[in-house]
Amino acid sequence: MKNVAISCSLLFLLFFGQANAQTYAENGMVVSDHVIASQVGVDILKKGGNAIDAAIATAFALEVTHPEAGNIGGGGFIVFLKANGEVTTFDFREKAPLAASPTMFLGENGKIKDNSNHKGLLAVGVPGTVAGLYQAHQKYGKLPWADLVKPSVELAENGFMMSWGLYNAAVNVTDQDPSEDIMINYFKGANGEIVKPGETWKQPALAKTLKEIQKHGRDGFYKGWVAQEIEDYMKAKGGIITKADLEKYEAVERKPLKGTFNGYDIYSMPPPSSGGVALIEMMNLMEEANISEIEFNSTAYVHLVAEAMRRAFADRAKHLGDPDFNPDMPVDRLLSKDFAKMRYENIDLTKASISDPSKFGHPYDGSSTTHFSVVDKEGNAISLTYTLENSYGVKMGSDKLGFIFNNEMGDFNPVPGETTTGGQIGTDPNMIAPEKRMLSSMTPVIVAKDGKPYLVIGSPGGRTIINTVFQTVLNVLAYDMRVDRAIEAMKIHHQWLPDRILYERNLLSPDTRDALIKMGHTLTPTTNIGVLMGITFDASKKLYTGAADSSSEDGGARGY
Ligand code: DON
Repeated sequence: MKNVAISCSLLFLLFFGQANAQTYAENGMVVSDHVIASQVGVDILKKGGNAIDAAIATAFALEVTHPEAGNIGGGGFIVFLKANGEVTTFDFREKAPLAASPTMFLGENGKIKDNSNHKGLLAVGVPGTVAGLYQAHQKYGKLPWADLVKPSVELAENGFMMSWGLYNAAVNVTDQDPSEDIMINYFKGANGEIVKPGETWKQPALAKTLKEIQKHGRDGFYKGWVAQEIEDYMKAKGGIITKADLEKYEAVERKPLKGTFNGYDIYSMPPPSSGGVALIEMMNLMEEANISEIEFNSTAYVHLVAEAMRRAFADRAKHLGDPDFNPDMPVDRLLSKDFAKMRYENIDLTKASISDPSKFGHPYDGSSTTHFSVVDKEGNAISLTYTLENSYGVKMGSDKLGFIFNNEMGDFNPVPGETTTGGQIGTDPNMIAPEKRMLSSMTPVIVAKDGKPYLVIGSPGGRTIINTVFQTVLNVLAYDMRVDRAIEAMKIHHQWLPDRILYERNLLSPDTRDALIKMGHTLTPTTNIGVLMGITFDASKKLYTGAADSSSEDGGARGY
């Protein structure tokens, strides 16, 4: 009986998530939005794979287990700290198709037509995930590619147990809108009903696509029958992505951005993500303000943090876009300590500033990005965030391929020249052009101390990502919080426009809110900001500590 009881509780943990409290490991760890995917990564580490290998296997496993955001139909970024202290990044952000144009989403009245930058196949960017994972493997992987894709093939083919979290999401997205074709049958079993919690959910079409990628690597997605089916499906349903788009797609290895904060090195993504620039700008400003002297969650803390966010988001809107199309972005200046000093001096510590769209954010995005963090026993670390943009992306895809396409084109500035108080941005650097990458807010981060990983972290949340990650890094570095506490602690979000502070309901005292309103801030409550997945390393004990955000339904840390 005892054995039965133990295996039941293990099953419960495996298939229904686990509490967010910290998990420890000495050799390696993966923290992701699904415990099965975390375990897939750890199994690869145990077989002698490095952090890159584990990240690739985890990313494919999330396509199967966390299809809301885990993907092969989207794109993302990897920040990789090597055991020797060197850092590199991989950019596999989606690109605009060759037939895209700056005004492709506008109707005759110059306004966005029928939400077409988010809905329907015109919203799909050329996917980058398979190319990015393959490129990272070619350069730094240890185990054979086929071994890394195998667990996801098996999960799709043999199925895995439907959790309550996934079931609830499935009920929400199934049969909502007939134009969202793949969602109609996606979660249904042979009996035509949505697979119930505790039952096995299989994805045979996805298994076939994954097998092709397992066998042919990058070419299994960007050439051959998968590419042909993508083109055929796009043509049949009003999309513009062709085989030529797929064949031309390349992931790019880029130099990371590096900042410092009180002796720690902070590494994150350069453009086409705006995350690294904004994060380092804000960390510099916090260093200038000596933030650890200001009590966490006090009025002064929220004011200063919100003012830093306002400024970083105005800079983001004004300057940032795909570096291949914007060679003159002032990134070095934005990252300099001098710039932070000047910025700090221009903050009134008693009064809110005003966001002026004529001088210089879209409402913040739905949930379909996912982050995971990986460390191995050599000290390699991976911080990977990838996305479909909205929850379940564009909610369309071919039944023959079994995966969902992104709607990332919505991250471009949709109306040239029009920046609104509601947060729509119309500046040049992020205007649509063929083969251009849309600006992202994804902020995968690795903080290092003496060349060793200190904190590996990231989150989904559209534009809130930058601020969620910023505050969590600050919680660990300036406020000495344990990683799980840092993840759960109260977060705010200000993105310049709209000019308001979003705050997590019930976590900011009424007195503090009143004081902030008196300073001129507008406050808006929200339920939850971010779904963080983090790992810290204690060099003296040689111990990894990992935690998944409690807002993740099935997420969890796994280590060994
Ligand atoms: O790349 C970006 O910034 C957005 N597409 C991310 C969207 C997102 O995080 C939605 N999920 N919560």
